[in-house]
Amino acid sequence: MNIIIAENYQDLSEKAAGIVAEEVKRNQQAVLGLATGSTPEGMYAQLVKMFQEKKVDFNSVVTFNLDEYACLSPEHAQSYHYYMHQHFFEHVNVRDENIHIPCYNDKNIADSYLEYDRMISEAGGIDLQVLGIGGNGHIGFNEPNNYLHTHTHLIDLSEDTIEANSRFFDSPGEVPRQAVTMGMGSIMDALKIILLASGKNKARAVQGMCTGKITTNLPASLLQLHRDITLLADKEAASLL
Ligand code: PGA
Repeated sequence: MNIIIAENYQDLSEKAAGIVAEEVKRNQQAVLGLATGSTPEGMYAQLVKMFQEKKVDFNSVVTFNLDEYACLSPEHAQSYHYYMHQHFFEHVNVRDENIHIPCYNDKNIADSYLEYDRMISEAGGIDLQVLGIGGNGHIGFNEPNNYLHTHTHLIDLSEDTIEANSRFFDSPGEVPRQAVTMGMGSIMDALKIILLASGKNKARAVQGMCTGKITTNLPASLLQLHRDITLLADKEAASLL
């Protein structure tokens, strides 16, 4: 595993944006796997800045987001559809038809989630996947459990995640209990992965991810098996390494 320790959040965001921009310059038709949450907000801001300065062009890029809450409309201010448009898509030139974000199906037909993986395959697979990490070691919404799923699926969110994400909602009761997420196989199939971690509350999960045993109880630890993974952590998140 390649480990880069950033001075602070700004440095982390600039380095992450630099890696994404390099990928897009190298391959204008790059397929990007994108993450939401507070950690990548700075990376998106940097990428928007680079786009405005004409340092990067997203015209032929294809994107697939990692996950989305169940039962929130795309217009809901806490949905990941809304987040992506607000932080990134509204400000750059990714074409609408090249944007993919998982959608909840209220009939819970598992096949409709598998369709998402088929679309990723048809696009040629993910060239660069951006990830965050939960304080409990989840990636996407693959929560710690005795088993993990390979493909995109509907998942019950853990109490840890509901509590952590309640900061974005008026009350914990408003946090959706389920989400659609790419599976571990969908993520591990990416050619290259960068995982961003910021803050002391991520230090234990980052430690387990890099130096602990590989276990489904800390989904990020499976990334030790990936061929091209870079951890990009600020000093606080890397403090237990
Ligand atoms: P955060 O979320 O960036 O908001 O901390 C990361 C995650 O839960 O994967």
